[in-house]
Amino acid sequence: MFSLEGKSALVTGSGSGIGRAIAQAYANQGATVWVADINLEGAEETVALITETGAKAHAVTLNITDAAAIDTVIQTIVDEAGSLDILVNNAGISHIGTVLETTEDDWDRIMEVNCKGLFFCSKAAVKQMLNQEPKGGVIVNMASLGSLLAVYDRFLYCASKGAVLQMTKCLALDHVKDNIRCNCICPARVHTPFVDGYLEKNYPGQEKEMFEKLSEYQPIGRMGKPEEIAALAVYLASDEAAFVTGSAYNIDGGVLAI
Ligand SMILES: NC(=O)c1ccc[n+]([C@@H]2O[C@H](COP(=O)([O-])OP(=O)(O)OC[C@H]3O[C@@H](n4cnc5c(N)ncnc54)[C@H](O)[C@@H]3O)[C@@H](O)[C@H]2O)c1
Repeated sequence: MFSLEGKSALVTGSGSGIGRAIAQAYANQGATVWVADINLEGAEETVALITETGAKAHAVTLNITDAAAIDTVIQTIVDEAGSLDILVNNAGISHIGTVLETTEDDWDRIMEVNCKGLFFCSKAAVKQMLNQEPKGGVIVNMASLGSLLAVYDRFLYCASKGAVLQMTKCLALDHVKDNIRCNCICPARVHTPFVDGYLEKNYPGQEKEMFEKLSEYQPIGRMGKPEEIAALAVYLASDEAAFVTGSAYNIDGGVLAI
């Protein structure tokens, strides 16, 4: 079950955290993975972790806000693998603040990556998926629990992730007859460099207390692990999920049970 043997996958932001775990899990299930990140060093580290197990991966530099660069990466994948079977729109950036603490520059920066970047990658991938034989593919978007509920001090981040949820549903509906499936994952807090960087920047000297506070937010009493999110991403990309499209999957240690 859940084999990705023979499939090609592009995972954005896979030089770190959740994206890295997804790239590793996909490669482990037999996919050839293109590890794309704005940070090439991180992408190369991910590829080294994958290839040392004997699985297949390639590192590429990609800024998802650059539409021409996305086309080039997809063309490279198609030249090598013959098709693009899976796109994971994982790259994303965070922002802390209420509406009053959010500037126009913040708005442009976060929306540029979390929304416009995801739109560019999705558009290029759908174009390719419609033109290949057999037609179709799978898109997995990294949304957030902030797509579904309000989180204190996350005005802009939640707005951007709410848009990711709606892009997921609309794309899924528009292309349901084209053999393209699109779903998103809505994790609560996951322990990655994203969280460590946020604590370092916003709570210098209080990182440990804040880490505990953020852990307790989840009723299960801890943050998620990147590999737990990756396991769901494997399912969504696999043929076992053939009936699943337009859905949002919470993976949240019980937050939405309250
Ligand atoms: N960690 C969490 O608690 C959490 C919770 C819910 C959702 N998410 C979402 O999961 C995704 C991954 O988060 P993470 O915690 O692994 O973060 P991370 O910061 O560890 O990794 C994100 C990666 O994206 C890359 N990236 C940033 N901007 C890019 C761009 N313009 N083009 C290409 N790559 C770019 C970074 O270089 C980095 O390698 C994000 O979309 C985030 O919003 C994270």
